[in-house]
Amino acid sequence: MIITIDGPAAAGKGTLASNLAKKYQYAYFDTGMVYRAVGLLMHLQNQDLNDEQVALKFAKALTYGQMMELSKHPDFRSSLGGKNASIISAYPEVRKALLKMQQDFSLNPVFSDGTPAKGVIYDGRDTGTVVCPNADIKFFVTASPEVRAKRRYKEFLDKGMSADYEDVLADVKARDERDANRSTSPMKPAEDAMIFDTSDLSIDEVFKKAVEVIDEKQK
Ligand code: C5P
Repeated sequence: MIITIDGPAAAGKGTLASNLAKKYQYAYFDTGMVYRAVGLLMHLQNQDLNDEQVALKFAKALTYGQMMELSKHPDFRSSLGGKNASIISAYPEVRKALLKMQQDFSLNPVFSDGTPAKGVIYDGRDTGTVVCPNADIKFFVTASPEVRAKRRYKEFLDKGMSADYEDVLADVKARDERDANRSTSPMKPAEDAMIFDTSDLSIDEVFKKAVEVIDEKQK
């Protein structure tokens, strides 16, 4: 079983994906990690993120294991990490170079300890349209920029990181703009995706709706 969950930053797709992965005992691939890993590697090695050819070199060399190691770095999930990921993810050749690693995961989905899983949940921007266009179930989770910025802002504070709400909102809007308008794999719901707007739906309500769809499909 392959399930894809796409949508903009802080719409609630990560929470939905990990809750569903836990309930059904499926592996989880957060595809933003591939872009965060390349962005962080370039940042740590003082490379110019605006240089597409350098980004491509890093993307081609990235392995799954290296990405998991990099994910432990404090800047991997920071606002800077998200911004850097968003910049290099706009390069068509970089996206192409990182596609195979994402697609291969569904052939042999595994948990973080290497145990095989009987299904996989993808979370990202183009997993239902480009990474796994033949997925069994596709969800697209969205919310207004203001609602998402409030959530991101609270997440930063909860983690003890300093943040300014207006800066977070500007960052959310800038990332939406880049994700929606890039020439390759722009973020958009797949034609056969079910859309959830979490501006006025709680995490629990979205989870229940998604479970109904999955249970129905599994009958
Ligand atoms: O989801 P996350 O915030 O970790 O993603 C980081 C960045 O990677 C996003 O802003 C987006 O630009 C990019 N991304 C992408 N395609 C995906 C997942 C993430 O372009 N499938």
